[in-house]
Amino acid sequence: MKTQVAIIGGGPSGLLLSQLLHTRGIESVVLERKTRDYVLGRIRAGVLEQGLVKLMEKAGCADRLHAEGILHDGTLISYGDQMFRVDFTEHTGTPVVVYGQTEVTRDLYDAREKAGGQIAFNVEDVLIHDADTDTPSITYMVDGQAQRLECDFIAGCDGFHGVSRQAIPLDVRREYEKVYPFGWLGILSETPPVNHELIYANSPRGFALCSMRNENLSRYYIQCSLSDKPEDWTDAAFWQELKRRIPADQAANLVTGPSIEKSIAPLRSFVTEPMRWGRLFLCGDAAHIVPPTGAKGLNTAASDVHYLFEGLKAFYADGRTDGIDSYSQKALARVWKAERFSWWFSSLMHRYPDQSAFDLKMQVADLEFLASNKAAQKAMAENYVGLPY
Ligand code: FAD
Ligand code: DHB
Repeated sequence: MKTQVAIIGGGPSGLLLSQLLHTRGIESVVLERKTRDYVLGRIRAGVLEQGLVKLMEKAGCADRLHAEGILHDGTLISYGDQMFRVDFTEHTGTPVVVYGQTEVTRDLYDAREKAGGQIAFNVEDVLIHDADTDTPSITYMVDGQAQRLECDFIAGCDGFHGVSRQAIPLDVRREYEKVYPFGWLGILSETPPVNHELIYANSPRGFALCSMRNENLSRYYIQCSLSDKPEDWTDAAFWQELKRRIPADQAANLVTGPSIEKSIAPLRSFVTEPMRWGRLFLCGDAAHIVPPTGAKGLNTAASDVHYLFEGLKAFYADGRTDGIDSYSQKALARVWKAERFSWWFSSLMHRYPDQSAFDLKMQVADLEFLASNKAAQKAMAENYVGLPY
């Protein structure tokens, strides 16, 4: 089999790239290790920057997002019983949109299917060959049959545990990592959100986040120990803990109910450099991970897809290679800024096991500065709504 761009991974990065290429008549094949239902069963990000919304529009997949996405003009930040608001629209002129990653992915799968896009599910033993030559290829197994896909380029969109990053030789690849000493326990419940805006809460008992998917679907997270298991936490224990971490007047309004999903995610900052090796390009979680505080994971995946799409578009339209040649440098310049923001916001909001009394005072001073200083709020808002690309 032969295609122009072989895409490893049918998560949001791979699907968005495939659909954008399709709008320019560039052929691609997506190879996904799991099934469509499995991918759509993963509950992940919920906040979209305008950059991702614009890419979904460009891909012709934004109708449902515009109809069902909820615009958020600001966010609430609490510490103890104090709460303040950072107004995104006042400081940047731009809101964010609350619309789940699951829905983004579903819209992209529907669009690829409608356009007759080629997606192979349940692929195994994916191997990248000759990525540093002009004739790269991928071999894999599907339904017990060995397959070979020849292509012009390979997009490695296969997430943190994928094979693409590993295909870059160790003497070329440099990795940077910080692992945080806690996780996030998240639940989804069919209850109205406690507030119409998100609440990021720093409490002496640890971080909490009140988020949502729609007016009757809430998403809540609490900082938990890395040794915790979702089954250790009954719904009652979760709700009780959440109430203790958010301001009392908010806790009094919290509507609880059975959880319909419960999972724990570890927190990590990770970047691999470079993001291109020969004709292999890494996109999204395959190249970088942020801790979820500030919702940058999916949004940095989207900016990578933008830079790669623009590079490939110029290559196929008139043979220009400047876009693909500068891909890694452009993508990384933006990624590192999102890494800094996510690291800063995580450090500001969580309890760390080894935090000293001095460290805690620094956290409160940083929060009080943010609560009272318009310039600090503007800097936070600019990062939260997404730096331009
Ligand atoms: P992925 O979504 O990981 O997609 C990669 C795809 O590649 C997967 O479908 C996988 O099955 C497939 N794959 C892997 N290996 C292979 C292979 N060898 N061959 C073929 N296919 C392969 N971000 C936020 O902003 N907010 C959040 O609240 C948030 N929560 C998260 C919770 C969890 C548990 C995780 C893991 C991530 C979370 N993120 C969150 C991050 C966000 O979801 C990711 O940044 C986003 O999914 C990146 O998209 P992607 O397409 O690059 O990678
Ligand atoms: C959500 C997740 C985040 O990490 C975040 O900062 C905001 C919202 C969410 O899943 O809704």
